[in-house]
Amino acid sequence: MQKRKTVLDIQRMKAEGEKIAMLTAYDYPFARLMDMEGIDMVLVGDSVGPVVAGYDHTLPVTMEEMIYHCRAVSRGLGQAFLVADMPFLSYQVDLREARLNAGRLIKEGGAQAVKLEGGENVADVVRTLADMDIPVVGHIGLTPQSIHRMGGYKVQGKQDQQARQLLRDARAVQDAGAFAIVLEGIPAGLAGQITAALDIPTIGIGAGVACDGQVLVIHDILGLCEKYSPKFVKRYADAASLIRQGIKGYIDEVKQGVFPGPEHSFS
Ligand code: KIV
Repeated sequence: MQKRKTVLDIQRMKAEGEKIAMLTAYDYPFARLMDMEGIDMVLVGDSVGPVVAGYDHTLPVTMEEMIYHCRAVSRGLGQAFLVADMPFLSYQVDLREARLNAGRLIKEGGAQAVKLEGGENVADVVRTLADMDIPVVGHIGLTPQSIHRMGGYKVQGKQDQQARQLLRDARAVQDAGAFAIVLEGIPAGLAGQITAALDIPTIGIGAGVACDGQVLVIHDILGLCEKYSPKFVKRYADAASLIRQGIKGYIDEVKQGVFPGPEHSFS
């Protein structure tokens, strides 16, 4: 049987200077394919809301949706480390609910760690989960659950004062017991400073190359999200064209009475 990566592998990668490759996944087939290609970490992100369910943002995503997608992804993984996002309102109300919801993602979803957004303001949540032996990934900078406060998806930490706060947030999350942290949508120089200041691995998205690892949304790198394409996304394939070509071929053959042929029919 293949061995799943653990927190120790992820920490070792930072110590040895090996970059960490992370992608989001929301279902079994994608999870399986990325696992076979050797992805280190897989995130069942609450980006499932906009990317898969067609919501405008991540805020409507529920615990039930997260658990459903997490279970599917978990079944597709043989070696990668699985992280599940804590959706909006699953950890902000009180510590008891945070513990219960994080525990459900581990117990019912099959996740090995949970990720939650925020810095100094969520340090107590990070600590309480770490105390119950649930590995936690922090997430600071452009935090999509704060879209209404930020007034849109805007790069954070450009001003000195904001940058200093992000450094404090990163330290607070690490000191509270997080084993890794996502840095999203912040200037590359600041991400480099945070990475150098922390002992835990930083995983960047729109945060430059100095981070210990990178994470992107799978649909973005495959060109499956035709709606928008942020500057930090690199497209490695044009899967949308391939899929549309396949669908068109099927429609044409059905209309022409070419499919099903004798080889697809029973006598
Ligand atoms: O929900 C998500 O996909 C994320 C990102 C870091 C990719 O949180």
